[in-house]
Amino acid sequence: MQILQGKKIVLGITGGIAAYKMPELVRRLIDQGAEVRVVMTESAKAFITPLTLQAVSGNSVSDTLLDTEAERAMGHIALAKWADLLLIAPASANSIANITHGLANDLLGTIVLATNATIAIAPAMNQQMWHAEITQENIQKLKNRGMHIWGPGQGEQACGDVGFGRLLEVPELVDQVCGLYQEKKLLNQHWVITAGPTREAIDPVRYISNHSSGKMGYSIAQAALNAGAKVTLISGPVNLSTPETVELIKVTSAEQMHQEAIKQAKNADVFVACAAVADYRVAEIAEQKIKKTADNHHLQINLVKNPDIVADVAALADKPFTVGFAAETQDVEHYALDKLKRKNLDLIAANNVALSGQGFNSDNNALTVFSATSQHDISLMSKSDVAKKLVDIIAEQLDEKH
Ligand code: PMT
Repeated sequence: MQILQGKKIVLGITGGIAAYKMPELVRRLIDQGAEVRVVMTESAKAFITPLTLQAVSGNSVSDTLLDTEAERAMGHIALAKWADLLLIAPASANSIANITHGLANDLLGTIVLATNATIAIAPAMNQQMWHAEITQENIQKLKNRGMHIWGPGQGEQACGDVGFGRLLEVPELVDQVCGLYQEKKLLNQHWVITAGPTREAIDPVRYISNHSSGKMGYSIAQAALNAGAKVTLISGPVNLSTPETVELIKVTSAEQMHQEAIKQAKNADVFVACAAVADYRVAEIAEQKIKKTADNHHLQINLVKNPDIVADVAALADKPFTVGFAAETQDVEHYALDKLKRKNLDLIAANNVALSGQGFNSDNNALTVFSATSQHDISLMSKSDVAKKLVDIIAEQLDEKH
């Protein structure tokens, strides 16, 4: 059965450039079995037409409070009662302020006040507006009232700014909605996940790192959360929004990640090492910026081995179910099986990072997951779908172990 079968979703669209993505969101929610009715504010209609949303949702779009015809078909109170979920996306700074203060001067505002449904808000606005003290206070108040806040994401904005304020991508929003209704088979489990790159300082301005974006690790965190786990994410420097309710521990170097991982893994049921950890760090970090001089044509930097985080977790007396990754460019299976054994892991996800369109800093991935006795192939798909499959495999193997 589809996860959203029988679920009734009112999608409230407010004025923002990201409104153009909403027909796609409606389609994807319907694909998952939901029935969707769309409510638009006046300013949303400057970005996308009600006719488009009517066509994709298969339902008439409501956009005014004072329309006798519309009220006869499905009035604001009826819509508020009909909904299982009221999702407001994109939610502008203005609409967030209105909702915080209980304004009921348009259809969406009245539905927010009149509904008992779960309310989720996906903000989208200029990064400075997002960081404004008043917006942050409003968001905090809405969280305190039990509303879900999904995003915003980070990146380039329509206005040319870069930062937090982008609407989450449609697949991410669909994942969030599905997460509300997904079977919580990981309840009472604590998952610790490492994600992103580490940075090893050379001097105060330079470091050694790699191309990991953190997307794979963050997707695993979201998938485990959706399945009901308590999730701690130990993350190197990335530009991603933190999944709602995840405990985020930010680190920079492999040594910091090691310290946090060992601490957290002691109380964990599952440990997933998705981070791209630097195998070596600089032996002596220069106190000042290393200068280029006329005669130093070659520069040597001495490196020393970093601790192996996942191997040390797997060596703990009361070790969690430990899952490693193997990012390889050749002989992928051979090296992955070697790491599975050598690091004493329960599972390893072999990741061929030589193929284009997957692996480092891509939106998609493909994995082969090995235990000592089994093999599961996850074909090329979005990292969010890969993560769901990987979480299912881990949960199954964990069940078999117990
Ligand atoms: O972040 P993305 O852009 O989404 O890209 C995802 C990814 C390619 C980084 C991810 O899918 C992946 O393959 N992660 C593992 C990267 C890696 O460092 O692989 P490795 O084969 O070098 O390491 C093997 C395992 O040991 C990994 O689980 C790694 O986290 C762990 N390790 C490595 C070195 C170290 N000092 N400590 C460790 O725990």
